Amino acid sequence: MKILILGGDGYLGWPTAMHFAAAGDEVWVADNFAKRKWELEDGIEPLLPIPTLHRRVQRWNGMNAGAPVRMKVGDLTNHRFVYNLLREVGPEVIVHYGEQPSAPYSMQGRTAAVMTQQNNVVGNLNLLFAMQRHCPDAHLVKLGTMGEYGTPNIDIEEGWLDVEHNGRTDRVLFPKKAGSFYHLSKVHDSHNIEFACRVWGMRATDLNQGVVYGIDTDQTMLHPELRTSFHYDHVFGTVLNRFLVQACIGVPLTVYGRGGQTRGFLNIRDTLACVDLAARNPAESGEFRIFNQFTEQFSIGRLAEMVVAAGTRAGLAVTVAHLDNPRVEAEEHYFNAKHTKLPDLGLQPTLLTDAVIDQMLATVREQVDRVDPDIIAPQIRWAGGDISAPNR
Ligand SMILES: NC(=O)c1ccc[n+]([C@@H]2O[C@H](COP(=O)([O-])OP(=O)(O)OC[C@H]3O[C@@H](n4cnc5c(N)ncnc54)[C@H](O)[C@@H]3O)[C@@H](O)[C@H]2O)c1
Repeated sequence: MKILILGGDGYLGWPTAMHFAAAGDEVWVADNFAKRKWELEDGIEPLLPIPTLHRRVQRWNGMNAGAPVRMKVGDLTNHRFVYNLLREVGPEVIVHYGEQPSAPYSMQGRTAAVMTQQNNVVGNLNLLFAMQRHCPDAHLVKLGTMGEYGTPNIDIEEGWLDVEHNGRTDRVLFPKKAGSFYHLSKVHDSHNIEFACRVWGMRATDLNQGVVYGIDTDQTMLHPELRTSFHYDHVFGTVLNRFLVQACIGVPLTVYGRGGQTRGFLNIRDTLACVDLAARNPAESGEFRIFNQFTEQFSIGRLAEMVVAAGTRAGLAVTVAHLDNPRVEAEEHYFNAKHTKLPDLGLQPTLLTDAVIDQMLATVREQVDRVDPDIIAPQIRWAGGDISAPNR
């Protein structure tokens, strides 16, 4: 397969590139390094320094661990870059990770919200038009999020809902109640892609992904310079990463509110497995396919209990603190999201067992001296702006 990975410098994009290259596919990556700039704006660094993309590509290509990775530097909101990229590469599959990925980032204020939606929605639209021009038969594998659905009081289907209304029936996109301006950018993307499939006959798979955890994949472990980013901060850090770091530095795990918020989770290894399955089993021409991409669901309180237990096994005394919730979200709610389509294609999940969580804790513990404790506590509020920087 000739596969183009957009956002190839990112947490998921870089391991995905190596995964396909290891399988012998022809891999291209593109990125504009915006994420590194957004980290600098908020004074944030990943736990371990991440070599430049140039360095990582050079290291991978020198290892003979698979096909080479080729890279392009450019901004997806620049349509000339996107058109030229697709014309030159001529991909069969495009995996689109190249967006601003953080809900808290988008909730800092007007500037960050507008930037997030411009970056994500315009970049995705440029991609759709460039695909129509240069590779209309290519399969778009687009990363969306389970957060597009919110927490409705009914079962969440995989993207589509059969409805009966006043005696008539139809199949509609599942209603979305997104939880932030970031999540809304993904909703807008989903609608634009569905339109392109319906009207232009494009083929696409929207992966409504849960919260990803994990540090290692088979390829990142081949060399320290091939590692991917691990964020534990209040802007880009996901909850399990944050809890593991808090456990290691001896501060309470910060559960927002009562901790009953339930979400879908998956291991980074399963992200690669799911994207692989989607890419190798493409949507039909004109089909807009949606997979709910997670393997398990946990409440935040339950995750905290699991980290406390892992800490106890490792000889750490871990406690939990309940903070005022900086987000506006239901803290106790119904959550039952279907996720059968990827297992039907053959997904064998890597579940969050004691062994997996113990291994992550041990890896974080080795780097405990690098932790910046000042970037963990939440500083961005959904309902206020009182804490937000005024220019954001
Ligand atoms: N990590 C998760 O838990 C998670 C969960 C659900 C969905 N997702 C989605 O998966 C995708 C990848 O997530 P991630 O955690 O790897 O994020 P990331 O920020 O580490 O990676 C995204 C990459 O895209 C690049 N990028 C952003 N805007 C760009 C633009 N305009 N032009 C070119 N490159 C651009 C960034 O520089 C970055 O390297 C995102 O779309 C995110 O919303 C992630």
